[in-house]
Amino acid sequence: MQIHGVEQRSLWYDEAGATLRIIDQTRLPFEFCIVELNDLAAVCEAITTMQVRGAPLIGATAAYGLALALRDDHSLAAQRDAVTALLLTRPTAINLQWALQRMVSSLQHIPRGEVYRAALDLAAQLCEEDIATNRRIGETGLALIKQLADEKQTEKPEGQAEVPVNILTHCNAGALATVDWGTALAPIYLAHQQGIAVHVWVDETRPRNQGASLTTWELARQDVPFTLVSDNSGGHLMQQGLVDICLVGSDRTTANGDVCNKVGTYLKALAARDNQVPFYVCLPVSTIDWGLATNGDEIPIEYRDPAEVTRVLGEDDSGVLHTVRIAPQNCPALNPAFDVTPARLVTGLVTDHGIFAATPAGLAELKDELEQTSGVDAP
Ligand code: MRU
Repeated sequence: MQIHGVEQRSLWYDEAGATLRIIDQTRLPFEFCIVELNDLAAVCEAITTMQVRGAPLIGATAAYGLALALRDDHSLAAQRDAVTALLLTRPTAINLQWALQRMVSSLQHIPRGEVYRAALDLAAQLCEEDIATNRRIGETGLALIKQLADEKQTEKPEGQAEVPVNILTHCNAGALATVDWGTALAPIYLAHQQGIAVHVWVDETRPRNQGASLTTWELARQDVPFTLVSDNSGGHLMQQGLVDICLVGSDRTTANGDVCNKVGTYLKALAARDNQVPFYVCLPVSTIDWGLATNGDEIPIEYRDPAEVTRVLGEDDSGVLHTVRIAPQNCPALNPAFDVTPARLVTGLVTDHGIFAATPAGLAELKDELEQTSGVDAP
């Protein structure tokens, strides 16, 4: 992503300083702040407190966390302890497990004395793959936006200015949620770069407001037109014909096509179905939990601190940050961070290998495709 005219990733390893650097997402949009993570404890803390967040970025960060744990102690015991600690940071996004499994299975072939360097190289490779994967998701999803743009162009009255494709998105599934490009925002960035008129409705995404604080921030940096809306507006906008397509990300997708994503995604999918608005989920295949073939009920849903619901962080007009309470003192609150959208509400899965139906047959077709291209059985 471009920030102040400079290409910027959400995380990168600084070889000279032997440190992992991240954009601290808890400080956005108020302050652009790069933070150094120097050991496993700092990485675990950064994932838990959501300085880094978003399924693919959590996986990439965890890979570096494992590498940092092996810097001073190359033992298998240290490796196992690090994996256990990292797995406890956030339970829902499967990319965390996926990245750690890839690291562990590659490291088993490496002499213990060389595991630190090998782990760093492997983490770097995962990051490069993440960027390439997201770009392919972007290219796949671009075709959907192009088609809508063509239809709108044909239908508009003669002489009327170009009408943008209106896209609704939830949470932040952009560059900040990945190493770069994002998943749901990748097709939007490519469309914008190709001169297709797009406009994004950004759900604020209570309670942590990833839409309001992160998605708006990164769309503005790429000059993509957008409007922030309250979480409850989506249904109304769809009834008014103001949404052409919904594009969201996923933290875990089951082998029958159920999609777990940021809480509130399900309600948008219901409203989309009621209003015949196509509802697509953009995801790398690393987000698919092939072991869950029945339905999304088995996905562990993260419940976060209720204080995230009763309090909000904001900046006053003098630029001073405050956390304020918006509910009565001691108000009971519940904070599920994710929900599951049943496959029947998903129009299609936009992946780095093409668009697939959110059905057992669609996922089986994708699995076949993966096995043919890699020559090994998909996990
Ligand atoms: O709690 P978060 O901010 O980590 O949740 C992020 C999301 O729900 C994203 O939509 C999801 O990870 C897909 S990101 C490419």
